[in-house]
Amino acid sequence: MDLLLFLFVALFSGFLPAHGAELRDVDKFCFNITIPVNVTSNNFVFGLPKFSNNLDVTALNIEFNTRGVAAALNPFAGTHNETAAYQIAGTYCRPSYNKPSTLLLATHGATLDRYYWHFPYQSSKYSFVDFVVSKGYSVLFYDRVGAGESTKLNGYVSQIPIHVAVLEQLIQYVRSGCLSSYAGGVTPKKIVLVGHSLGSIVSNALLASANPTIVDGAVLTGWSLNSGLLAGAPGIFAATQLKIANTVNPSRWGAYDNGWVTVIDIYSCIQLFYKIGSFDFATAQLALASSWPISIMEFFTLFAMNFVSQSTIPVLFFTGSNDMVICQGDCNGVYANAVAPLFPKSVGFEAYIQPNTGHILTTAYNATGGYRVITDYLKKNGL
Ligand SMILES: *[C@@H]1O[C@H](CO)[C@@H](O)[C@H](O)[C@H]1NC(C)=O
Ligand SMILES: *[C@@H]1O[C@H](CO)[C@@H](O)[C@H](O)[C@H]1NC(C)=O
Ligand SMILES: *[C@@H]1O[C@H](CO)[C@@H](O)[C@H](O)[C@H]1NC(C)=O
Ligand SMILES: *[C@@H]1O[C@H](CO)[C@@H](O)[C@H](O)[C@H]1NC(C)=O
Repeated sequence: MDLLLFLFVALFSGFLPAHGAELRDVDKFCFNITIPVNVTSNNFVFGLPKFSNNLDVTALNIEFNTRGVAAALNPFAGTHNETAAYQIAGTYCRPSYNKPSTLLLATHGATLDRYYWHFPYQSSKYSFVDFVVSKGYSVLFYDRVGAGESTKLNGYVSQIPIHVAVLEQLIQYVRSGCLSSYAGGVTPKKIVLVGHSLGSIVSNALLASANPTIVDGAVLTGWSLNSGLLAGAPGIFAATQLKIANTVNPSRWGAYDNGWVTVIDIYSCIQLFYKIGSFDFATAQLALASSWPISIMEFFTLFAMNFVSQSTIPVLFFTGSNDMVICQGDCNGVYANAVAPLFPKSVGFEAYIQPNTGHILTTAYNATGGYRVITDYLKKNGL
């Protein structure tokens, strides 16, 4: 074949590895902040025997994979209201040259921390924060309790109702102008929730339980309940080979109790989170090296929340075409129908499938291609 013709065909058939556009020198102003919150939430009580060792975790794994068992498993011993004070570590960024009116409030997923949104390695290819700041937005990205630099929690306690209550407090913190004293007098007029995976679950659950106009828009990435997550749960458990985090990496997680678990190695991480051929191995290794455990109650409470929201705000659902976690590896044909019923009244609702991408969006080759879809959506909807 003629070389030019070959190149032409290769380019347009997606044969060559396609990388997203790179950003250069994003002129931004950022600062780190610790936000004290005091939250009350109706928490689930862990009702199974606590894990003594990895054999206990394996036993639970087996139960999940045993026909007929998972559906009958009740992991809770009731609920109770709990009030607690936490320190939330976050970073605020905005363009140096202007004072944006819309703030994106970003919540990361399980096994990650806030730097999911601002990957420190090759930021020009991967940083969501740099991309959205270059489009004129401000961002507050924070560590959920239990992850990163926020307050550590017991793994049998850390759960979605707590994360939801914290997120609500953070919205109030921004709305009340607390951030503006640090950010040059800027109080954002609009707030858009941005989530990934567990962070989308938290954002979605808040929009289903709180005042539906608590924020002005939402971008929920890597999340859908009914496009394969439930059917895929045993496979997810099997792929992660979950182990007690303090046994997997004692130097990083020695202080975490046995209720915190994590993936066993880089291949397990890749099986769950990446599409083969669409990521850089060294980048995935760095992402794993800066990962955090997931608490067993974060996992169980996922299945106990209400996600149907009456909110009319614009909502963009966004996921990788080959998301193993939420679509059993193929979102085409199952995703849009599964997410639309969660926001029946949303004006401007859209579901977008990002091609050639797995569950993790921000360290995929074409990450910035996806970010452009997100910011275009926000502009189109007046956000
Ligand atoms: C925020 O803190 C992190 C360490 O957690 C540091 O690497 C980063 O440079 C700090 N950012 C700013 C803007 O001070
Ligand atoms: C928790 O508080 C809510 C109201 O804030 C109340 O309706 C509920 O009954 C309480 N639950 C428990 C278990 O005390
Ligand atoms: C949190 O708020 C509750 C209710 O307002 C109060 O009783 C409690 O003392 C507060 N706790 C902290 C640590 O501020
Ligand atoms: C990169 O992402 C954009 C936005 O979704 C998409 O239009 C483009 O086709 C993607 N490129 C590849 C090679 O997947």
